[in-house]
Amino acid sequence: MPRPAFAHDGIAFGCDYNPEQWDRDVWDEDIRLMREAGVDLVALNIFGWSHIEPRPGEFAFEALDDILGRLHAAGIAVNLGTGTASTPAWLTTRHPEILPMAEDGTRRYPGGRQAWCPSSPAYRAASLRLVEAVAERYGTHPAVTLWHVSNELGCHNALCYCDDSAAAFRVWLADRYGDIATLNRAWGTAFWSQTYGEWDEILPPRAALSARNPGQLLDFHRFSSDAVRSQYRAEAEVLRRMSDVPVTTNFMVTAHIENMDYWTWADEMDVIANDHYLDHRLGDPVSELAFAADLSRGLAEGAPWMLMEHSTGAVNWQPLNLAKDPGQLVRNSLTHVARGADAVCFFQWRASVQGAEKFHSAMLPHAGTDSALWREVVELGRIVEDLREVAGSRVVAEMAMVFSWESWWAADTECRPSHALGYLDQVHATYAALHSLGLTVDVVRPGADLSAYRLVVVPGLHLVRAAEAAVLVDWVVAGGTAVVTFSSGIVDEEDRVWAGGYTGPFREMLGIHVEEFAPVAPGVDLALTDGSRATLWSERLRATTATALAAFADGPAAGSAALTRNAWGEGTAYYIATLLDPAALRAVLAEAADAAGVAPAATTDAPAGVVDLVRRRGDDASYLFVINPSAHPVTVDVRGHEIVTATTIEDALVVPAGTARVVREETVS
Ligand code: GAL
Repeated sequence: MPRPAFAHDGIAFGCDYNPEQWDRDVWDEDIRLMREAGVDLVALNIFGWSHIEPRPGEFAFEALDDILGRLHAAGIAVNLGTGTASTPAWLTTRHPEILPMAEDGTRRYPGGRQAWCPSSPAYRAASLRLVEAVAERYGTHPAVTLWHVSNELGCHNALCYCDDSAAAFRVWLADRYGDIATLNRAWGTAFWSQTYGEWDEILPPRAALSARNPGQLLDFHRFSSDAVRSQYRAEAEVLRRMSDVPVTTNFMVTAHIENMDYWTWADEMDVIANDHYLDHRLGDPVSELAFAADLSRGLAEGAPWMLMEHSTGAVNWQPLNLAKDPGQLVRNSLTHVARGADAVCFFQWRASVQGAEKFHSAMLPHAGTDSALWREVVELGRIVEDLREVAGSRVVAEMAMVFSWESWWAADTECRPSHALGYLDQVHATYAALHSLGLTVDVVRPGADLSAYRLVVVPGLHLVRAAEAAVLVDWVVAGGTAVVTFSSGIVDEEDRVWAGGYTGPFREMLGIHVEEFAPVAPGVDLALTDGSRATLWSERLRATTATALAAFADGPAAGSAALTRNAWGEGTAYYIATLLDPAALRAVLAEAADAAGVAPAATTDAPAGVVDLVRRRGDDASYLFVINPSAHPVTVDVRGHEIVTATTIEDALVVPAGTARVVREETVS
């Protein structure tokens, strides 16, 4: 049966709303101000459990009834939480076995949130009883247009090492491997006398005195993603049985939740929803924002998706929580919309005055409506409303980048060539270079159909199955241009090294023979023969059929090729054997994009990397998004109707410093 789609008029504008933190006399003002700001979708009951089930099996829905009714009367739709994200005190007091166990065997106490083991039968039973009650009460409520299962599943509690988890892990392994001999082979337990004779001997990878078995660690990541997903499935199953409203949960696709392999979750969502917060600990937080948005669209297979949470200003959980600059709220929001979001929602509506998040920004700040932040929120609401015609249109990219959670887990394992470099470092550096070239990038899973693309970039795809590698190789043979970076093709699905020269199943296509890794210490600069600089990584390799475009001029791999290009079939495959500095990486990717005929969505007078350009295409029009975070105006070669300022653009579009514009183009190109 086809699943119901999330239907909303235009682009949704909204927030998490936690009315339980306030007296009811505040609610009327909330709703009045929501209408003033243009809010038309709010997420309720996200952390509602102790309010709606104050004692075991005793439900108290009066307050939720009241607020749902008020919102509905005001024309504001509700994205209703199942309320299972944070357990009430009575539950963990009666069932302390629900509390998650850390890898050292210590329990994590309640007092924060998400203090539950994903494999706990007691948690499962109690949470589904709650979901049944919520679905029964609100499954046909006219305000409810979307179900919001739990909250950021796996954010804090993804990896639990308790006995319930151990039992569930064994069941999962038996299902995967069938017999213990197959498991022993898969995990390489011949090493260090680790061979298992019985399933009961297997434990979660609890803290050990030395490095643990990497095959076991990898499978524990997979198991843990599946265990959390099974909670989603169980809740969704109840909701779908009792209600026709579409179901989703809010992902957090990179940087913060690393333990969910969302490629294996995506099909279960009626609409993809993502939460994104700028992380100022990263080198380039704005490019990471764009990457997360492109990855969300990838999970949605190109369909519109929802930005379920972001912040109007500072968060509260980084060491230094930066406020947004004037204009940044609009720019960040439209960066998501440009990349396919049909919802712009925030955590949260009214800034809390108590609790751990009292210093987190909100749509309505502590300062109230007499504030620049509130005025920006209202302005954004107006822009989102004006962009209603954009809803449903899609981004079309000519190039893709491959992203893999399994590679992340496998590459960042305990014993590896260098701890100075992780999987995401390569992914972010590569994406940042593409972003600064102004290229529109689809993010795809390993093994995805590549036929729509002319250029495919593969950063550090450490773990790759033969069949996944074959898709890329066949696509290159048929004429595609690929750029593969180091640490790709290192292990197979069972974390077994593809021996015979690194890059394994990509080796022939790349035309190289990698003999040895030669990482270098942080702070050491490597020189390449073409004048480029690089850091952290080198390798001893020789070109077999490839042409060496540059070699290492110094360092432990001096004389080895560092950058190669191989003609393969009708196509071309580049290999980058080091972490190039940003300018050099940009130059290589620009050459590959040029060769493949991939260009930015429009031309501008701005230097490369200054302005973000993305086109969404609808049935009757196309929309060019231009985001200019720089301190200077930029001019873009586009004609049509500019929606943000309601202006006709006859000649060229001038985008003032720090602003964002969206042009409905005259022709669908
Ligand atoms: C998200 C979470 C919200 C809120 C927000 C703060 O991870 O879903 O409930 O905590 O972060 O940034």
